[in-house]
Amino acid sequence: MAEETFSIDENIATDDGINPYPLWDDARHGRSVARVVEAGLGGRETWWVTKWDEVERVLRDSDAFSSAINGETMGPIMGDLILAMDGEQHRHYRDLVAKAFRASSLEKWGDQLIRPTVHALLDRLAPRGEADLVADFTYAYPVQIIAAILGVPVEDYSQFQHWADAINLGPTDLARSLPAAAAMKEYLAPIVADRRANPCGDLISDLVTSEVEGHTLADGHLYGFLRLLLPAGAETTFRAMGSLLLALLTHPDALAEVTADRALVPVAIEETLRWETSVTLVNREAVRDVELGGVTVPEGASVLVATASANHDEARYERADEWDLHRPPKPHMAFGTGRHQCLGMHLARLEMRLALEGIIDRLPDLRLDPNAPTPEMRGFAFRSPDRLPVLFTATPR
Ligand code: HEM
Repeated sequence: MAEETFSIDENIATDDGINPYPLWDDARHGRSVARVVEAGLGGRETWWVTKWDEVERVLRDSDAFSSAINGETMGPIMGDLILAMDGEQHRHYRDLVAKAFRASSLEKWGDQLIRPTVHALLDRLAPRGEADLVADFTYAYPVQIIAAILGVPVEDYSQFQHWADAINLGPTDLARSLPAAAAMKEYLAPIVADRRANPCGDLISDLVTSEVEGHTLADGHLYGFLRLLLPAGAETTFRAMGSLLLALLTHPDALAEVTADRALVPVAIEETLRWETSVTLVNREAVRDVELGGVTVPEGASVLVATASANHDEARYERADEWDLHRPPKPHMAFGTGRHQCLGMHLARLEMRLALEGIIDRLPDLRLDPNAPTPEMRGFAFRSPDRLPVLFTATPR
């Protein structure tokens, strides 16, 4: 790939640009570690890393590749941010918040909250016989789960959706993201105060009472974490859910197999996360000159670690661009790896599984609407289908 052939900054900022996969295919077959922008955000050189082994090395070597750079882009909106911490500070903070996200801690939410939310959304769709599963289902679903897990009253969900959309704009639109972040903190403050006094088993109660080695979460860290949960937990999962549905709708035989054998639901989820992860890149900063892929990444460079490209590395996966339900299982990189590996991955998987099971049960004969425009995967740093127009056999309430 030639150097600086397109505006990576522009494509990431608008996130509506070109499909990144062909670019990364070229990179993996040529210069897999390459400088793509001479002076990007903050005047830094921007490099990307595209092969599985190199991606894995960067994410596991947190001494050479720091996460602090995430504070430059997201810090002004989010405040103190786990994604921007390194070393001991990160370990300590992660210990304080991790308990609530263990697979065992999530069990109660499956029956009490996630399945009922799926069915409440489907109750409105099932009698219709047609829907756009992005506008009518996936978009609203994970933000409702996060809000409910936080203990936000159900009547305030739409307010949360509004803040989530604005906070997700991040540094691209500070005039909207900053006030939304401030308003969300103001809204949550009395809930936090109440849970400190009367813990009740929701996530905020778990976070305010969490204690490791005599330390609790400082207020700045608590609000930083709560704000991060919206973009980290809602946008990622709504997009991944859309890609899962698109994969199955464009592979009707696989949809029939999964419908007949629910043990294949997790298999379809993992293959989708490999094939089209919703978050294609994570960011690091080289803290010193580092040899990688036969070149030297200079100290201070911003390193875009293309986890999505690692998931398409043909040295690891045959016919990597194809979605294949029967691909031999192998771990993927959708949730990253190393110390910052996604804290919400068990929740994301649970949400996707319960949603797909609900959709299969409640929307029989599900198929793409042949008369509607074909859905397309869109986005650069965040990817998912723009719409999912479907038909199914209507069932009365
Ligand atoms: C399919 C959905 C999801 C994808 C693809 C995804 C992807 C990722 C990735 C790649 C990272 C690593 C970032 C890095 O190394 O810099 C990450 C971190 C994180 N994710 Fe997720 N995520 C998803 C869902 C969720 C959910 C549902 C939550 C919580 C409700 C969540 C919370 C977090 C948090 C808190 C971190 C930071 C962990 C740390 O810095 O130690 N994510 N996610």
